[in-house]
Amino acid sequence: MSSADVAARVFRQLEPEDIRVLATIEVDLSRHRFVPEPDIIRLSGLAEKEVKYRLERLSGFGLLYRWIGPYVGYALNMAGYDCLALNALVKAGILESLGKPLGVGKESDVYDALTQSGERVAVKFHRLGRISFRQTRRLRGYLFDRRHASWLYQSRLAAEREMEALKLVYPCGVSVPKPIGHNRHVVVMGIIEGDCLFRITELPSPEEILDEILENVRRAYIGAGVIHGDLSEFNVIINPDWHILIIDWPQYVRVSHPNAEMLLKRDLSNILKFFRRKYGLIRELEETLNYIKRP
Ligand SMILES: Nc1ncnc2c1ncn2[C@@H]1O[C@H](COP(=O)(O)OP(=O)(O)O)[C@@H](O)[C@H]1O
Ligand SMILES: [Mg+2]
Repeated sequence: MSSADVAARVFRQLEPEDIRVLATIEVDLSRHRFVPEPDIIRLSGLAEKEVKYRLERLSGFGLLYRWIGPYVGYALNMAGYDCLALNALVKAGILESLGKPLGVGKESDVYDALTQSGERVAVKFHRLGRISFRQTRRLRGYLFDRRHASWLYQSRLAAEREMEALKLVYPCGVSVPKPIGHNRHVVVMGIIEGDCLFRITELPSPEEILDEILENVRRAYIGAGVIHGDLSEFNVIINPDWHILIIDWPQYVRVSHPNAEMLLKRDLSNILKFFRRKYGLIRELEETLNYIKRP
């Protein structure tokens, strides 16, 4: 069961005091590997008895990791972090409920969800520096500390970057999911249908698909000044009308970035190689590069 499954299952049962305790631990994790119980009591502003009850409850839900060493301390696990983000998105009037998994990527879990106006959307939980609960049990000391602090930070950063990219390219008419909202490591976006380009066995008109991908790369480049940075057949979706969508934008760079040229070349070369290998379509990289950059 993924951490989002755990979060989806329990998060409706969470009461304001539970959220308060989770948020207190989140804030204090910047100072501690495991936040000592007395700190949670002091910083939460709740009574000791209340905090102890909440810690027990949250651990039972599988949202906290309890550490027993020279002192007793707590850390959030991913499901706990998921609950904080979901709670914020519900409070912000963006989400109503979380549904079923849509896809598991190498660095994310994507779920369908409903907004408060009943619209179906996609919710992407970024999971960088993914580290399993079993592993956290084994890892102690500084190793754990650094990894732990970094999955929180890296996952949040990835979501922020992806949201930024979508907000830059979507208004320029680049074919991407519509950006809807964001909190912590979670991005809410328009839901799309279709299959990954690499998974499709036969395209009816591969040349048109390739042209459409390049047209969108160009629109992002010229219109928004953005380069995807992780473009490949794994991040192109073919929808049921045989049109394309480009997903997975956290690695984007602006055209002014020192590595912009190199990343654009790599993006294009990934796509060209795929079409050459699978469909025998031959396009020169330099020529394609000129097409993308021509104002
Ligand atoms: N907006 C969306 N609507 C529906 N499914 C999506 C959406 N975004 C991603 N997915 C599904 O989740 C998978 C992983 O998404 P992706 O953004 O590529 O993340 P990762 O960084 O983990 O590769 C995709 O291959 C796709 O199946
Ligand atoms: Mg991907």
